[in-house]
Amino acid sequence: MSKALVTGGAGFIGSNVVKLLVEEGYDTVVLDNLSSGYQQNLEALAKARFVGGDIRNGDLVSKLMDGVNVVFHLAAAVGNLRSIEQPIEDSDVNVIGTVRVLEAARKAGVKKVVFSSSAAIFGEVKHLPIREDHPLDPESPYGASKMAAEKLCLAYSRLYEFEVACLRYFNVYGVNQRYDAYGNVIPIFAHRLLHGQPLVIFGDGQQTRDFVNVRDVARANILAATTNGASGAFNIASGTSTTINSLVDILREIHGDRLAVEHAPPRKGEVRDSCADISAARKNLGFEPAVDIKQGLSEYVDWVKLEMRSL
Ligand SMILES: NC(=O)c1ccc[n+]([C@@H]2O[C@H](COP(=O)([O-])OP(=O)(O)OC[C@H]3O[C@@H](n4cnc5c(N)ncnc54)[C@H](O)[C@@H]3O)[C@@H](O)[C@H]2O)c1
Repeated sequence: MSKALVTGGAGFIGSNVVKLLVEEGYDTVVLDNLSSGYQQNLEALAKARFVGGDIRNGDLVSKLMDGVNVVFHLAAAVGNLRSIEQPIEDSDVNVIGTVRVLEAARKAGVKKVVFSSSAAIFGEVKHLPIREDHPLDPESPYGASKMAAEKLCLAYSRLYEFEVACLRYFNVYGVNQRYDAYGNVIPIFAHRLLHGQPLVIFGDGQQTRDFVNVRDVARANILAATTNGASGAFNIASGTSTTINSLVDILREIHGDRLAVEHAPPRKGEVRDSCADISAARKNLGFEPAVDIKQGLSEYVDWVKLEMRSL
């Protein structure tokens, strides 16, 4: 049986990766300090072992590497706004924390690391669709620290005998994603919808994003772990762009007509369009997004309803 260590495994994406690992029969250990994760995300996954702790604790991380075949490194201080408010913590976790994980993996002889990178490393979009060789020009401390972490991963894979796959996620949404007023548009819309509040569209609503369901992202992690020679950086997205207006239309279909919309001026500095080229992940990892946006949104709204009932 393969043994996996998942840092940040109690978080939104991490808990979905853990779920899939458990289903696939991996012996799975989670390291998470619960700074933004929830132990309840792992409640149904009794087969995964949870260890509360920080990735910056080198001794602990080294101890947990014992017998591990693959590390999924998702733990991070996440978010552009948060990084502007707490830049030291952002780099400390995302850069120093990543070196701790890489060093411990190297010393333990782990052969594969799958790192959760981010489309935030691209910065201003220069051309579409965004390929992996698009310029990297991050616009926040978060984008910069994720870029540094990705570069460290790639340097380690060149220097030492192990493969590191850096997965650059675009706009991930889905089950276990909690509402955050400054967060992503889908949790904000779902929250407002279910509280009977109007959805606020900034600008004309024709701005686009590449939304990818978390189940597809979890699958990409397993593919990256199991594909020999899959080292380097790969966009993980749906490869399609969705306007904010069509997101509202889909939510209207799912929820019925009881959905009010308000318009507000465009937000300064907001990216107008985003869409990934995912041909590298298709070719090298065999990645194929399978969850369409309507199905994914419907599942997500059902999950948010359940969450609201349990509060
Ligand atoms: N959500 C997205 O759309 C998105 C997009 C691009 C990249 N990512 C990346 O995916 C990964 C997971 O993000 P998420 O959206 O699930 O966020 P999340 O905040 O839900 O998950 C991060 C997890 O890491 C844990 N953590 C944070 N600092 C830690 C530390 N010092 N030691 C141990 N654990 C720590 C948190 O408690 C949390 O469980 C991150 O690396 C993030 O940069 C996310």
